[in-house]
Amino acid sequence: MKNVSVVVLAAGEGKRMKSKTPKVLHKLAGVPMIEHIVDTMDAIHCSHKVLVIGFKADVIKDALSHREVTFALQEEQLGTGHAVMMAEDQLPDNGQIVVLLGDVPLIRQSTIEAFVAHHIQHKCSATVLTTAMDNPYGYGRVVRDESHESVLKIVEHRDASETEREIKEINTGIMCFEAADLKRALKNISNTNDQAEYYLTDAFEILVKEGLKTSAYLTEDHTEVMGINSRVQLEEAEGILRRRILVEHMEAGVTIIDAGNTYVEKYVKIGCDTVLYPGTYLKGKTRIGEDCEVGPNAHIQDTHIEDGITIKDSTLIESKVDCHTNIGPYAYLRPKSDIGKHVKIGDFVEVKNSRVDDHSKVSHLSYIGDGDVGKNVNIGCGVVFVNYDGKKKHRTVIKDNAFVGCNVNLVAPITVEENAYVAAGSTVTKTVPENALAVARVRQENKKDWVLRKQRKAIKK
Ligand code: UD1
Ligand code: CA
Repeated sequence: MKNVSVVVLAAGEGKRMKSKTPKVLHKLAGVPMIEHIVDTMDAIHCSHKVLVIGFKADVIKDALSHREVTFALQEEQLGTGHAVMMAEDQLPDNGQIVVLLGDVPLIRQSTIEAFVAHHIQHKCSATVLTTAMDNPYGYGRVVRDESHESVLKIVEHRDASETEREIKEINTGIMCFEAADLKRALKNISNTNDQAEYYLTDAFEILVKEGLKTSAYLTEDHTEVMGINSRVQLEEAEGILRRRILVEHMEAGVTIIDAGNTYVEKYVKIGCDTVLYPGTYLKGKTRIGEDCEVGPNAHIQDTHIEDGITIKDSTLIESKVDCHTNIGPYAYLRPKSDIGKHVKIGDFVEVKNSRVDDHSKVSHLSYIGDGDVGKNVNIGCGVVFVNYDGKKKHRTVIKDNAFVGCNVNLVAPITVEENAYVAAGSTVTKTVPENALAVARVRQENKKDWVLRKQRKAIKK
């Protein structure tokens, strides 16, 4: 939509959120509300993207520093009309200007496109996106003319008469204007209303008086246009968006056992024939391949997982896992864990900043911190990479085909060369050469009849 510019109103504090954070930075599916709207603007390829900000403007700018948008500052929040006035200079004089609200983030790209198409097709000066609500309390009401085709005016709930309050068709806050008409109308908006604010909605009455055509485009799905003013509405919107995201994945070939207990953030990607079991949380930029089994109870954040992987009851953060590897139950991959193909990371194993190469096994109760584990290595139960000397972290290197017995401490920096063995119970402090066996523990001594002697002593007393 090359001739369409979008202005998003997001200057308000959002008092009803009772928060230190500006309302539009509260997250839905892991992404700030306002960023959902930026995504939608990107998707419709509009020509100008202007965000009107005011309350904690710098915080919002910072949060969007990686996005391509321009900002207009509304220092005092004197109403939605006033907010658009602040953006006027940054908006073109021709084409269409679409107004979105920062606190109406669930609006779909397809709805905006159909709405603008309606506006253009009917050659309107102004069009409002509306929906019918059983309980329209608090929303602006859309007053149509007798023919029902054009919109005479929009009245705020608090300014509406008894009969106007009967109207179920409400203003979603989303509007489309011919740029030149909007700019003219803005000059005539006053603040003579119950809140002494400059209402953008007044532009309709002004344009009608000029003899111009207005219309309303009614959308059936009112979940898309819900405004988020409180934490209760935030939770409601989260539920709607969560379901929407899960449905998209299911339609793309992902099995979800219990959508009521599965949480997938907006930018997560999942391959087909992967199964998500209950209690699964997939966050950030997590990417999961095909044919994986994830969960129950998997918490995965910013992690890349290839095909055919099983992850049970585990937490994975900022890590990578290659094909056909099994993780868990109860494993913890901390940032920069890089796990190869056909690997096993078993129960109560913690990995951090380490590479574990193909076909290696760390099956139980181990800490792999700052290590480089080669291919086909077996790490026994209870092995600890002793990586920290109280001041600095050091690396542990275990080369291909090595075998580390149970309950071994590897005091870093240290290397276990290829094909080497470390005997169970050893505390190893120096390099183990290729093909060698390192034993670093006290040799076993059996004290013959020690128990009997002890018993005799007791009787004598
Ligand atoms: C607004 C509409 C109402 C509509 C409802 C839909 C007006 C006058 N009212 O009411 O008809 O039914 O949305 O959700 O347009 N904002 C600014 N600067 C301001 C005032 C508001 O940027 O000076 C921004 C807010 O940050 C918010 C949005 O505009 O993102 C809507 O403002 P809000 O105060 O929530 O308006 P509502 O009372 O919900
Ligand atoms: Ca609102």
